[in-house]
Parts: sequence; structure tokens; C-alpha cells
Amino acid sequence: MSKLLESVRAKAQSADKHIVLAEGEEKRIIDAAVAIRKEKIARVTLLGRADVIYKVNPEIKNIDVRIIDTQNMDILPYAELLYELRKAKGMTPEEAAKLARNPLYFGVLMVKRGEADGMVAGAVNATGDVLRPALQIIKTAPGINTVSSCFIMATQAAQYGDNGVLVFGDCAVNPQPTAEQLADIAIASAATAVSIAGLDPKVAMLSFSTKGSAKHELVDKVVEATALVKARAPQLSVDGELQLDAALVESVAKLKAPGSNVAGHANVLIFPDLQAGNIGYKLVQRLGNAEAVGPICQGFNKPVNDLSRGCSSEDVVNVVAMTALQAIQ
Ligand code: ACO
Repeated sequence: MSKLLESVRAKAQSADKHIVLAEGEEKRIIDAAVAIRKEKIARVTLLGRADVIYKVNPEIKNIDVRIIDTQNMDILPYAELLYELRKAKGMTPEEAAKLARNPLYFGVLMVKRGEADGMVAGAVNATGDVLRPALQIIKTAPGINTVSSCFIMATQAAQYGDNGVLVFGDCAVNPQPTAEQLADIAIASAATAVSIAGLDPKVAMLSFSTKGSAKHELVDKVVEATALVKARAPQLSVDGELQLDAALVESVAKLKAPGSNVAGHANVLIFPDLQAGNIGYKLVQRLGNAEAVGPICQGFNKPVNDLSRGCSSEDVVNVVAMTALQAIQ
């Protein structure tokens, strides 16, 4: 395990947060719950049928994990809350009663009601299905308009970022961000770089152009987003628009962006859209053999995180630990 993940797990242990795992009947989730309790990384609620969960991993019987079967319980308080939150959007009480039994909705309703500090799902369900209930129910934190995501990339290229560690955003949520949303993504990714990766953020707003080398409306959007970040977070080291080589490589930065305090030293890379961000992190992960920690969702009023469907139980433990850390903030 990398030093980064060791430190995240250690901080989570002292936070003692309560995380709900909505896909409670899935083997990787149950195995993770056992490990989380053994290591005391968080308190855990599994959503699912107890008999199914015990059959998948009998060890869970001896572990202090809460199990809730949303199909066989009094759903009324949760359904009433969901109806209140969504009636203006046309939801009926009947629809709310049905949806509240869906573990992805129930999990975020537990978080909303303060019965858990955060939710993790996505080992079985697609990103959109995990995030939509959270967007509708948890909503964004005060002063933030955009939920986004980032990955902490622990690469083997020690000459880049902070000894090879960089933060990439947004790689999982916003398909076509506006300039305002790009600015939100940059500010939120810098905050995650501090709180979870322990970096001193130097944020590069990426493009196919450096400092006006190309003219295009897509470049204009990155220039506008950079100006918005500078206005909204004047203390933050940010520069753009920068090509990737100008952001990372000092010799290239000297030629293409002389005088920049970020170019050549960036450790937070903001991609201009989701196609670039999603492809970019997977390139570095697969071809560069980097550890990709995330996606870490940022901007929610209370933490909700989405797992990759290819995740292992170890990945689940790590995402639960990060969710617990986010719950402290
Ligand atoms: N930030 C804040 N609020 C948002 C955001 C956002 N990024 N996106 C949607 N919302 C709000 C909407 O305003 C709406 O609010 P309201 O209903 O209270 O008015 C609510 O959330 C639901 O919006 P919808 O339009 O129903 O949701 P949408 O269908 O746009 O889904 C989603 C949002 C799920 C995030 C979508 O943008 C999406 O699917 N993104 C891509 C996810 C993906 O497939 N990623 C790649 C795979 S992940 C990986 O490889 C690691």
C-alpha cells in the first residue's frame, strides 16, 4: 500500500465516522466491511438482507456491522423526507415511498437525516445512478454550485508533481463543464489536494494551447475559467491556459510560459472536459502503471463517493477511509 493510502487510513481511524454501504449484498463490499471494522477505519451500515449477507461471508456475523433491509422496514420517515425534498420537482408520495426503498436513495437519505456521515456505492451500479440521488438529496455545499471529482495519481515519475503525486480533475462527473464549472472544479480539486493528498496545490488549467499559442473558443473557455479561479481564490497558485508539457516540464515551461509560478511545477491538473479527463487518468494509470485513487467526489454538502465497478475490496476500504476524512471537513 502506498504511503498516501496508509496515511488516509490512519487519519480515518481517529475520525471514527459512520459510513453506509448501499450495495450491502455484494461480496467485495461485505469483505471490505469486515476489513474496515477489523482495522477500525469507520463504523459501517450495510444495506441488504441479513441472510444473504451472512451466506456471502459468514465472518460478518461476528463483526459489529449494522444491517438494514430496506424492503422490510418502516420506510415512512425516509419517504416523507424524500417527498418534501422533491415535491417541487413533481415527485408524488407514492413515487417517494417506492424510491426510498432503493438502497442508493435510502443511503443518501440516511446521510441527509444525520444517521450516517457518508455513503459509498458504485461497485455494482453505474456512476450516474450513484450520483443522481446524492445530487437530488444531499446537494452541494454552501457557496459551491458544482459537484465534481478528482483522482489522486501516485505515479512513478518522481520528477513531476509532488514526488510523482498529482491530482487530476474532473475525470468522472461533468461531461461538458462551462467556464464557471471549470473554475469550481479547479478550486475543489485544489482543496482535495490539500485535505486528502497533503499537497501544496499548484493548479494548471489544461488546454491544447499555452498562453495564446492557439486561437479557439475552447481555449477561450479555459482562459475565462482561469480568470474566474484567480478572482474567486486569489490565494491559490493557478495558471492557464497551459499545455500538459508546459504544466509539468520545467524546460518547456521556460520556453512556453516564462514567468509563470505554476508552469513546470504543476501538481493539480484540471482537464477541459470529461473526455480529456477520463481518458487522461486512464492513460497514466494503464500505460504509466500509476496508482489511481478515486474518483473522489467533491462539492457535496456531505460526502458521497462512487466506486469503480472494477474495484477490489481493498479499493472499497480506501474509498471508505477517504469518505470518512471528507466527513471531518
Ligand atoms: N453539480 C451539481 N448539481 C448537479 C450536477 C453537478 N455536476 N449535475 C446535475 N446536478 C443537479 C441538477 O441540477 C439536478 O438538480 P434538481 O433535480 O434538484 O434540479 C439534479 O442534480 C439531477 O440532475 P439530472 O439532470 O437529473 O442529472 P443528470 O442526468 O445530468 O446526471 C450526472 C448527472 C449523473 C452526474 C451526469 O452528468 C453523468 O452521468 N455524468 C457522467 C458520469 C460518468 O458516466 N462518468 C464516467 C465514468 S466514471 C469513471 O470512469 C471513473
